[in-house]
Amino acid sequence: MHLHIPSQFLQSRIVSQPLYRRPRCSHMAAIAPIGPQLSQPSLSHPPPSKLTTVKALSESSGLSSIPSIYTFPKQPNHEPVSDTKEPIPTIDFSLLISSNPDERSKTIRELGKACRDWGFFMVTNHGVPERMMKAMIEVCREFFELTEEEKGECEGKHVLDPIRYGTSFNPSVDKILYWRDYLKIFQHPAFHSPSNPPSFREIALEYSKRTREVMKEIVRGISESLGLEDKYIEKASNLENCLQIMIANLYPSCPQPELAMGLPAHSDHGLLTLLIQNDTVGLQVLHKDKWVNIHPIPNSFLANIGDHIEILSNRKYKSVLHRAVVNDRDARISIALAHGPAMDAAVSPAPMLLEDGQNPLAYRAMKYKEYVELQQSNKLDGKSCLEHIRNRGI
Ligand code: OGA
Ligand code: NI
Repeated sequence: MHLHIPSQFLQSRIVSQPLYRRPRCSHMAAIAPIGPQLSQPSLSHPPPSKLTTVKALSESSGLSSIPSIYTFPKQPNHEPVSDTKEPIPTIDFSLLISSNPDERSKTIRELGKACRDWGFFMVTNHGVPERMMKAMIEVCREFFELTEEEKGECEGKHVLDPIRYGTSFNPSVDKILYWRDYLKIFQHPAFHSPSNPPSFREIALEYSKRTREVMKEIVRGISESLGLEDKYIEKASNLENCLQIMIANLYPSCPQPELAMGLPAHSDHGLLTLLIQNDTVGLQVLHKDKWVNIHPIPNSFLANIGDHIEILSNRKYKSVLHRAVVNDRDARISIALAHGPAMDAAVSPAPMLLEDGQNPLAYRAMKYKEYVELQQSNKLDGKSCLEHIRNRGI
């Protein structure tokens, strides 16, 4: 692949050292694969040593083309994007928690339809103050503005470390790197925060608490929409101790956005993800076999169901593939709060949804902690983790 690297860039620190160094992992070959594509996570896997972040790369002066390690041969952004005017569903949260039973049951029906048809929906009137959402985005932006040395303090060593700053998805397995830097923080059942910026802790603590409340009500609604008791999912997944992870994504502007990818097609591992973003679009959802650009309503949450709703519902509701594309104008920041079962809960399909024998058991149970570890240790590849626990006897 021919590389156009400007001369200033060639002189920079970034290229005078190798652009990235893969971890030396001679023990990798000894890891037995447990599925066609997935390898068992290794607790002793060394972290990739000092990787250039996309932010540093995008700020190198005169960058007019991207290094080949970021270039996708298939040019993913050239795939047709649906021009559908069919808007993604909107759920009015205030009606979901309404004391008027008619309003509530109508909203639960809409929620069920949104889960069945799209797997994605916007949530309005959720009660989380706009200033809190803006402050959260702002303080994440401030975090990414810190020096690489300061941010480096948050570099995790293992995929289950409660604070992890990094780039791409999993550079030790990504053959082509994604145009994305990230900060992942476990916020529940134990709350963690980087110490810098100093205001991060207070803002994130409040935001994560409020978001969990919204999540819990939506999960109750989903439970009811499946014909289950409203607290069924909550109890089955021990939501009291739910694993809540904040994933702050930074997608710097990219000189060749049609060649790069922010995040590839994937489904989320948990139950429900609630996402907010700055004013820049970039999220695409696969709907009826076409990629659809998502333009969120301001101050709403963009919600999507994850693999564990697909498991619990025995495929009545399916987690949906989505991806993030990049652009050559503005940096995009998105903050996803991923909510899953408790780490030690092993969730299986609700027996009530199998009763008539029409729906054989679709998935075997796996501890959520192991599921997250499996997803985070491998390359991000569609719904490969869910496939891994698919009951093949049917
Ligand atoms: C994620 C994700 C999409 C986005 O973090 O899991 O899908 O728009 N992010 O950043
Ligand atoms: Ni996602």
